[in-house]
Amino acid sequence: MAVVDPLIELRGVNKHYGTLHVLQSIDLTVGRGEVVVVIGPSGSGKSTLCRAMNRLERVESGEIVIDGQPLPEEGKALARLRAEVGMVFQSFNLFAHKTVLANVSLAQIKVRGRGKAEADRRSRELLDRVGLAAHADKYPAQLSGGQQQRVAIARALAMDPKALLFDEPTSALDPEMINEVLEVMRQLAHEGMTMVVVTHEMGFARSAANRVVFMADGRIVEDRAPEDFFTAPRSERARDFLSKILTH
Ligand SMILES: Nc1ncnc2c1ncn2[C@@H]1O[C@H](COP(=O)(O)OP(=O)(O)O)[C@@H](O)[C@H]1O
Ligand SMILES: [Mg+2]
Repeated sequence: MAVVDPLIELRGVNKHYGTLHVLQSIDLTVGRGEVVVVIGPSGSGKSTLCRAMNRLERVESGEIVIDGQPLPEEGKALARLRAEVGMVFQSFNLFAHKTVLANVSLAQIKVRGRGKAEADRRSRELLDRVGLAAHADKYPAQLSGGQQQRVAIARALAMDPKALLFDEPTSALDPEMINEVLEVMRQLAHEGMTMVVVTHEMGFARSAANRVVFMADGRIVEDRAPEDFFTAPRSERARDFLSKILTH
């Protein structure tokens, strides 16, 4: 699809794990303010794609450009890039021995060089935004999974990222906690955050995504508006996938 103002661009990206061709000539452009939902069967390369976008994973060939800048190889420039493209994982990865507030402030101090008072002020703002203002001084284990994931989102936002990548952010949550996390993500989308979201939550894809990217076997098979994709998938792979997840 034609994208007016590209923020994330992948061109001809390839990666193998041994003999497995896990990313096969991936071309994908995410525009500023766009929400792209990535779906596809397990093992199709969705996580690898996300990890490639902020260089947690090396690729063998092709170009990855973030806001006009080629992805740096290493060093300070890479650390800066990682701060600009935040990532939220299925497992929240909070520091167990630090308070919620300290978890959100830590990278602001270490990576962004903010003073503690300024970082804590910003953290409290963000915790308020994700509905957790009252929990700032608790430890992660005192929170539910949904609350911990919202802390992880606040922590990612604290870097003032240009884009956020979400890799199955609700897959580890009990069903009753999924919506509180999706609600925060919907709000971010509404506010114009650029987001790439790997998820099995088709309701979120339909209501919040500008585009749905369907992956299978390391390739992007479809890249379309949600309504078109869900009502008339073009590929046999997508039809098969949708019939499995929509009827279970
Ligand atoms: N570090 C790794 N080493 C070897 N194979 C891997 C590694 N990470 C993922 N894979 C394989 O690459 C394929 C794609 O994995 P992944 O990107 O995690 O898919 P998805 O997120 O769509 O389930 C799978 O077959 C997986 O087993
Ligand atoms: Mg995955």
